Amino acid sequence: MEFSDLIRRRGMVRSFKERPVEHEKLIKILTSAVRAPSAGHLQPWEFIVVKDEQVKRSLAEAALKQMFIAEAPVVIVTCVDTERSASRYGDRGRRFYSIIDGSYASLLILLAARDLGLGACFVGAYKDDEVARILELPAHVRPIGIIPIGYPAERPPRYERLQLEQVVHLNRYGNRASLQGL
Ligand SMILES: Cc1cc2nc3c(=O)[nH]c(=O)nc-3n(C[C@H](O)[C@H](O)[C@H](O)COP(=O)(O)O)c2cc1C
Repeated sequence: MEFSDLIRRRGMVRSFKERPVEHEKLIKILTSAVRAPSAGHLQPWEFIVVKDEQVKRSLAEAALKQMFIAEAPVVIVTCVDTERSASRYGDRGRRFYSIIDGSYASLLILLAARDLGLGACFVGAYKDDEVARILELPAHVRPIGIIPIGYPAERPPRYERLQLEQVVHLNRYGNRASLQGL
C-alpha cells in the first residue's frame, strides 16, 4: 500500500474475527516496531506478546473493562525499560524519552498491522499497577500501550481531523498564517 494511503486508511479497530494472526505477520509487525527511532538509539522497548485467553481477559479488565481487547487473537503490550533510557539521560530519559520511544514503536505496530490487512487499536486507558502485576513487569518497566491485533470484523469509524489552519502556526505560537503563506 502507498504510504499516504496507509496513513489515511489507518483507524483504530475494536472488533476482531476469530481468525488467528499468522506467525509470519506477527514477526513482521514486531520487526517494524523495532525500526522506530529512539533517543540515543537506546531502544528501551520491550514487547509482551499475549495469546493466553486468561491473560487477555485480565488485561481487558485492567483496561477499564474494554473487553474487545480479549476478542483479539493476539495482543502486544508495548513497554519500556525506563532505566535503559535513564542510563544516559537521567530523569529526562526516564520520564520523557522512554515514553516517546515506546509511542513511536507502537505507532509502527499500528501501521504495520494495517499494511498486512490486519486491524489494531492503541489502548492507553488502563490501570498501570494492574497491568504490571498481570504481566509481572519489574518496577522499572512501564507499560505504554495495550495493542489488540486481529483481522477486522468492522470498518473502523472515520474521525475527521482538526483543520491544518487550526493547528499550524508560523514562526511563533498564535501566528495563524494562511496555508499559502507557509
Ligand atoms: C494515548 C492514546 C490513548 C488511547 N486510549 C484508547 C483507549 O483506551 N481505548 C480506545 O478504544 N482507544 C484509545 N485510543 C484511540 C483513540 O481513541 C483514537 O486514536 C482516536 O479516537 C482517533 O481515531 P483513529 O485513530 O481511529 O483515527 C487512544 C489513543 C491514544 C493516542
